[in-house]
Amino acid sequence: MCPSYRIFWKRHMVKVTILILILVTLTIAVYINLNLLTLTSGISMRYGVSVNDKEDMYYEIDTRRIMNQSNSPDYFMTEIFESLLEKTVPRLNVIHGRVCREKLNVVFIKTMKCATETIAFIIRRFGYVRHLNFVLPVHKNIYLGWPFQLKAADFRPSKRPYNILVDHAVYNFTIMQSLMPMNTVFITIIREPYSHFISSFNYFNVKNIANVTGDDPINDYLHNLDKYERVYKSPAAAKTRYCIPDNFSITKNLLSHCLGMPTGFPMPESNITGNENQVRKYIKHLDTKFTLVMIMEFFHESLILLKRLLCWSFKDILYQSRNYGNYSIPRSIKHQENIEIYKKWSSADYILYDYFNKTFWRKVGDEGPEFFHEVKYYTKIQKEFSHFCDSLKLNTPEETTEKRDRVFNVSGSRFNDPFQITADFCLLMQSDMFQYLRERFDNKEPWALEEINKRKEKPQGC
Ligand SMILES: *[C@@H]1O[C@H](CO)[C@@H](O)[C@H](O)[C@H]1NC(C)=O
Ligand SMILES: *[C@@H]1O[C@H](CO)[C@@H](O)[C@H](O)[C@H]1NC(C)=O
Ligand SMILES: *[C@@H]1O[C@H](CO)[C@@H](O)[C@H](O)[C@H]1NC(C)=O
Ligand SMILES: *[C@@H]1O[C@H](CO)[C@@H](O)[C@H](O)[C@H]1NC(C)=O
Ligand SMILES: *[C@@H]1O[C@H](CO)[C@@H](O)[C@H](O)[C@H]1NC(C)=O
Ligand SMILES: *[C@@H]1O[C@H](CO)[C@@H](O)[C@H](O)[C@H]1NC(C)=O
Ligand SMILES: *[C@@H]1O[C@H](CO)[C@@H](O)[C@H](O)[C@H]1NC(C)=O
Ligand SMILES: *[C@@H]1O[C@H](CO)[C@@H](O)[C@H](O)[C@H]1NC(C)=O
Repeated sequence: MCPSYRIFWKRHMVKVTILILILVTLTIAVYINLNLLTLTSGISMRYGVSVNDKEDMYYEIDTRRIMNQSNSPDYFMTEIFESLLEKTVPRLNVIHGRVCREKLNVVFIKTMKCATETIAFIIRRFGYVRHLNFVLPVHKNIYLGWPFQLKAADFRPSKRPYNILVDHAVYNFTIMQSLMPMNTVFITIIREPYSHFISSFNYFNVKNIANVTGDDPINDYLHNLDKYERVYKSPAAAKTRYCIPDNFSITKNLLSHCLGMPTGFPMPESNITGNENQVRKYIKHLDTKFTLVMIMEFFHESLILLKRLLCWSFKDILYQSRNYGNYSIPRSIKHQENIEIYKKWSSADYILYDYFNKTFWRKVGDEGPEFFHEVKYYTKIQKEFSHFCDSLKLNTPEETTEKRDRVFNVSGSRFNDPFQITADFCLLMQSDMFQYLRERFDNKEPWALEEINKRKEKPQGC
């Protein structure tokens, strides 16, 4: 036995070794693959925004609250933020092992109730520390004409080129391209239409304004759409609607409207929403003009795509999670039936969401498997960073002064250079850039204010 075994081994040593090597490689490959699969499918659950009726405002910040605050004196001094300003703009970052130049010119279309304020904070901060020029609403307005098409009367005129448009405006390529530099990047974020509807229904107080009765308001509303729409959209309800003009539907194809699809508002605008071919054609147009359409359900994946496509850095996309909204609506007993009704009601939004949910995952696929490692890594940093800032409890100027030397060092990885989070940076994250951006603008271009006051045409909306 022994000698023959040895002879066998001598003769076949190479073959057996190769066989073992192949087996080991296969096992590793299958393991990695499985791991990636679980990452791909599990990540949305763990890191995405859960589409839970109670939690869905987690990333949404109440713009109305911001407007209310903007009068109050802010103790955060501009001086604090001087230390955070970027010295060299544009910065060079490394994406996919290649050096790239961060993109500075951005139009972000804010759809309603899609975590857009969280992303707007990110973009405002990005522009603020780089001294970029924003298209800003006039006076203390919060919208750039929304839900009407943007007009000159809606924004502060500037003698400098604009870099960023981030406040609520209805997308229109012709108008925005004429305002912005040629190389402007268009981005937006959308959300699964039914959960979007529930969120809008709550946020815009449809139940009370439209006098929806019963203990199952969603069900009642969806089964009597025409009746309740008439009440909600009527001039009689104007006072309670807050910033929503007469005749505008807040539950029907809202995403599509924000993205500039002709929805018949205001009259006599054309209305293509009943024509599927034209809807698809319009969506194709969006696809050619938008570099990125993010998906709220995959929030961190969206941010990493944003970072990669715009050549931004990890630090640029950190955010402070907020939870301003709070509501709970009992899930309707006829949940499935209601979804079907809503699909017919908001059909353009469903086509839109389906389309961009697919392009989103195609873009993710193009990024390669490393993408999910980056999402995972980002999620870890984001959590640690939040913890660091929260634990500082920077609530008063005294506390702030005391803690200004605290830092959180983020080490480098294959996705990011090492960087430092300071207490000042936490403060910056706490602040809505709303007021600063306007103050800075008005200091720089005081002539604009006079110009606005001379205008005959009044701004639209809020
Ligand atoms: C804004 O502030 C006023 C006065 O403090 C308050 O009555 C009103 O409800 C606030 N509005 C919002 C949307 O928070
Ligand atoms: C965009 O604006 C232009 C110029 O005001 C207008 O002619 C066009 O109809 C608008 N496009 C859409 C889709 O509303
Ligand atoms: C809603 O109902 C109340 C009380 O029934 C009524 O006073 C109010 O006018 C109604 N609102 C609208 C917009 O019809
Ligand atoms: C709202 O629509 C009605 C007809 O449906 C129309 O008479 C009215 O002028 C419209 N109001 C506005 C502000 O567009
Ligand atoms: C637009 O067309 C759709 C489908 O025909 C219709 O349901 C909707 O009421 C129209 N919108 C407006 C504002 O007229
Ligand atoms: C939301 O409401 C729930 C129950 O009413 C309460 O326990 C929770 O603290 C609230 N959250 C916020 C952020 O207000
Ligand atoms: C979005 O796309 C993902 C990946 O293809 C899919 O799992 C998910 O069901 C889609 N979401 C909706 C609401 O269609
Ligand atoms: C962070 O890094 C700096 C050097 O870059 C070092 O001086 C400091 O001690 C570090 N702080 C902490 C808390 O690790």
